This record gives sequence, structure tokens and C-alpha cells, in this order.
Amino acid sequence: MPRRDVYIRSILGIVLGLSTQVACAPGQRSGSTGQIQPLRPLLTMMSLVNGRGAEFERNHLTPYVDQLGYRFQYLPAFQSDNRVDSYRQLFRERSLQPDLLELDIIWPAIFADHLVDLKPYLGQDVHSFPAEILQAFTINGRLVAVPVFMDTGLLYYRSDLLKKYGFAKPPETWDELEHMAKVIQRRERQAGQKEFWGFVWPGSPSEGLTCNAFEWLSSQAGEHILESDHTIRVYNRRTRQALERAASWVGTITPPGVIDYDEDDSWNVWAAGHAAFIRGWAYAYNRAASSKSLQGRFGITRVPGGINGQVRALGGNGVAVSRYSEHRAEAVMTLRYLVSASLQAERAQQVGSVPTRWPLQNRPDVMANTPFHGSMARQVMTGVVARPSSLAGSSYDRVSRAYFEAVHSVLTHQSAPDNALLALEKELVNITGFRAVREE
Ligand code: GLC
Repeated sequence: MPRRDVYIRSILGIVLGLSTQVACAPGQRSGSTGQIQPLRPLLTMMSLVNGRGAEFERNHLTPYVDQLGYRFQYLPAFQSDNRVDSYRQLFRERSLQPDLLELDIIWPAIFADHLVDLKPYLGQDVHSFPAEILQAFTINGRLVAVPVFMDTGLLYYRSDLLKKYGFAKPPETWDELEHMAKVIQRRERQAGQKEFWGFVWPGSPSEGLTCNAFEWLSSQAGEHILESDHTIRVYNRRTRQALERAASWVGTITPPGVIDYDEDDSWNVWAAGHAAFIRGWAYAYNRAASSKSLQGRFGITRVPGGINGQVRALGGNGVAVSRYSEHRAEAVMTLRYLVSASLQAERAQQVGSVPTRWPLQNRPDVMANTPFHGSMARQVMTGVVARPSSLAGSSYDRVSRAYFEAVHSVLTHQSAPDNALLALEKELVNITGFRAVREE
């Protein structure tokens, strides 16, 4: 059996095995009286986070669910995880569990039919979330998940090295980034760090590459994979040039191995001190801030840009309730607690998660442990652009795959930018039925 299938089976085993246990177990013995008590029902949540975020969710939700009279089964994400496939399979089987599930901001359209519309449960509360984020979770007028934390691309840099080599501030354009990366790399290598690189990022063919390429190409060529007027504008001179530029980084300021790096691989290279810049995510800020070797030696800034400004991909998670849950009322209550202003504020302070409620985003006391304080204060949404997941609907994963495969083929020199973009245009037209528009 392929590894992924084995993994899904084991997750399903955990989830479905537990529901069998609930159905079959006659009861449990109470510790104090020795009497048989009926087993309390189970509420299950599949999360997308791990580490401190998962710890926070588990520690806060367990007592909350307990006072609702339920046991709580919390399944954090694992590194080898492919949640999309697990969710697909669970929904196909109309599984009664999980009751609650976390979704990446790009998944709502894929699972909308299996999720409860949460709008009626939120009432006026809905107005405290930014429209751009709500829109990504709204499919055909139904709010299928509520944003629990927000994420965006960020440029992390080694502030000590910028200072050492006389750069007064971090780069704002791709030209500036290239220049600084080259200088720092050369000088660090001269100083004995033979494996030092200027700039790392996740270049393996995956969603992480879609996000990075989306930022390169929209900041320099203004295209967004799919456009809101239902056109496809990927074939033009500036897109070709932006792709050529990215390909020229590989092996010069970026390690050749980048074409196989996932998000964690690039992070590990940067965090171990082997690179000056990394294109990372806001969610990782806490990792850097709590790392002894990086403390006081790194900074963050907006992802560099070009003629179309500085663009950052919108990411983040929402939490949804399965239509097949038998405990909808309790699941909705738990969800509302998880996204409440008070819990989001506490999570921001403890874990550094960026809150999704804009009144919280403007509070310095709440934001102090997130990336958006100091020079980044009040910039949570500046330059943030969503990937076209709402536009593509349930085809988003095919659209994104076509995009990252085309970009990857250029990075690996399997295709010239011109050919890759022509083929991509054709594929995107086939998938979406949108109209191709070419510009010189
Ligand atoms: C981050 C983002 C998510 C994105 C993923 C890609 O986790 O929050 O939206 O899809 O990175 O690797």
C-alpha cells in the first residue's frame, strides 16, 4: 500500500475506531463509587496545527468540551499528513467524526457540500472579521468555516548580517534582495562559511511553491493565476521575465537543492544559520522568536516586490463543522469558543498566532508576540492578496498543481519560461473554461 494510503487508513482507524468504541462500550467505572457510569459522548476535532498551536487548542478546548458533558478527542496535524486526502475519504464515507475540522483557507470550495453553513450561528459577530478572509471561506453564500488565525507570507532576514555588511534596512524590491543576498553570501563564504546562501524558499512542486511564485509574478507582472473577470493572463513578457529571474536564483543565491525543499526544509536551512533571507510565513514567527540562536539576530519585513508593488499571499486556517456530526450544537459552541475574541487574544499572546478579528489586529497588547508589532504594526493586511481559490472553486487544487508544475519545470530548466507559460495557459483554460488574454 502506498505510504499516503497507510497514513489515511491509520487516521481513519483512530477516528472510526473511536466511534465503534462509543457504540459498543457499555459504560465505564467511576473511580470514586465503583459504579458503572454511561460513557460520555465524544466530540472529535481534526486540527491542522501542531506544536504550541496544537497544545493551545487542546488545553483550552478539552475543559470547555468537558463542561458540555463530552469527552474531547483532538487530533493534531502530523508532518507526513495529507489532510485533504483524509478529509476526502472521511466525507466520502459520511463519517460521523470528526465533528470539527480545520481547513486551509484554500480548501473551502473542495469540502463545502459536507460542511454546515455557519453564518446563521454567528449573527452580527461576522462583522469583526476582514471581508477578504471571510470571502475565502464563503462558498455560494454559505460560510463554511470561520477564520481561526490568519497567515501571510513574510520575508525573514538576519538583521545581524545586514548590519555587519552595511545595509541600513531590509530589501523592498527583488532587485534589492538579489543585491543584498549576493553580497552577504560572498562575504560570509570568504569568512569561512562555505555553505552559506543568500535566499531560501520552498521550491518543491507543492502549494508552498504556488504561494511563492504567486508573489513573484503578481508583484512583477500583475497576474494572479486566475483573474476576477474570468480571464487568464499568465502569458506575457513580464511574467516570463519574473520566472527567468527566479530560475536564475537557483544555484547562485539559492541552493540548487531548493527545487526539492518543502516549507520545513527551507526553514531548517535558514534557522540553522546557513542563509541570510527566507520567504516564510507569519505562523513561523514564534519559532524564530523562541529560538536561542536567532534571538536578537533576525527581523521580518514585507515580501519584496516589483513594478506592481509588494504582494503577500493570504494564508491561514478556518474551523468548520461537519454536516455528518451528530453533535452539531455542541460542535458549533466549541467552534464559537475557539474563534472568540478572548481566546484569539490569548492565543496571539501565548503562541503568536495572528488574530482574524480586525479589532484585535489593532491592539498593541494583543499583537506584541505576533510579527505585526514595531515597524510591522497595523500592516497585517497590507499588500495581502488571496490565491484564486474561491474563483477556481472545487478545481483549485488542479489549478494550483498546473501552476506549481509549470513554475517548477522552469526552475529545473526542463522548460523555457515561454513554453511553460503557453502550456500553463492552455491547461488553465481547460480546467476553468476562463478566457486567455495575452499582452506583450
Ligand atoms: C501556510 C498557509 C497556507 C498555505 C500553506 C502552503 O500554512 O497558512 O494557507 O496553503 O502554507 O504551504
